[in-house]
Amino acid sequence: MDTKIIKIDEADYDKSLLRLAAEALAEGGTVAFPTETVYGIGANALDETAIKKIFKAKGRPSDNPLIVHVTSVEAVKTLVEEISPVAQKLMDAFWPGPLTIIFRKSVVVPESVTAGLDTVAIRMPSHPIARDLIDQSGVPVAAPSANLSGKPSPTSGEHVIEDLNGRVDYIVVGDQTEVGLESTVVDATGDTVMILRPGGVTREALEKVVPVVCVDPAIEGHQEEKLVPRSPGMKYTHYAPEAEVLLIQGQEVPMVEMIQNMCVRLGNSGKRVGIMTCDEHLEDYNCGVVISLGSRQNLEEVAQNLFKTLRDFDAHGVDIILAEVFDEHGMGSAVMNRLRKAAGNQVIEV
Ligand code: TXA
Ligand code: MG
Repeated sequence: MDTKIIKIDEADYDKSLLRLAAEALAEGGTVAFPTETVYGIGANALDETAIKKIFKAKGRPSDNPLIVHVTSVEAVKTLVEEISPVAQKLMDAFWPGPLTIIFRKSVVVPESVTAGLDTVAIRMPSHPIARDLIDQSGVPVAAPSANLSGKPSPTSGEHVIEDLNGRVDYIVVGDQTEVGLESTVVDATGDTVMILRPGGVTREALEKVVPVVCVDPAIEGHQEEKLVPRSPGMKYTHYAPEAEVLLIQGQEVPMVEMIQNMCVRLGNSGKRVGIMTCDEHLEDYNCGVVISLGSRQNLEEVAQNLFKTLRDFDAHGVDIILAEVFDEHGMGSAVMNRLRKAAGNQVIEV
């Protein structure tokens, strides 16, 4: 397939640049585009044949449902059975933005979008290119992250080109994405809110708007038993670079010592080692490929750089990445969720 690439300067762009891509969406084609979280690969959510193209392009398992992107509440109303009072509060507070809300679906939403579930995930993005593209296409746009299934989500146009060139009709290239991690997915079909995937909107922010927020026990840190996550996508190994990832967990000083020691040992045994650290510890290592995610005090910055850094380690050809852990509050929860998945839960306690 011949993929057409549209480069856009976000600081100063002309909506008409999106016309052909929007037409392709309306006619059943596939278009990758930036959002404020990560890049997505979109198709008309009401067109079964178009939806199948997304699954094929990504190599995505068909039991993993897609998020439908809209720009108006009117569009939501056609896709859902009802908007619960709690869902309404969330929409008022966080849309447009990095929050995906699960509703009971209406009959117009095809089975392939929801993977046979009776619910549908909907998000109203804030990114101007995403919004203009959806508006001009005139259809709701189903869009998973624009990576090959299993790889880290793309936070830049280069990542998308790496994964999907030749597999989609258009790639719209804008800037690096602002949030860097995917949206928070919440179930708001009942009276309370349950976080199915931590992401761009923090639990703390949700708690300011709705009284009861819980987290799907299957996705929390140290689970005793194997629980099945309520968001199907959370059960796959995900966000994984080519290199093996090992999380080193503990107090900062012994954690850093352990990583330095492991790096030397692994290096001696002939492995190329990467160390994923923060600005505060950059000077503490003298071995391996060392990359900082940003300051520990700024978890938004860490989130923004995480997926890019995982891909950068692959570009350096490392065999194994030794990763520091971050505090699990605010954006730290989503960061640690993605890190654990990248590590396939390989955690070493110091
Ligand atoms: O930030 C984002 O959400 C990005 C951008 C492109 O909007 N999209 C994204 O999509 O991350 P994707 O497909 O990579 O992740 C969607 C997640 C999956 O974990 C999926 O299982 C879950 O949402 N999901 C979708 N529909 C669902 C439903 N009806 N019930 C439960 N989980 C659902
Ligand atoms: Mg994804």
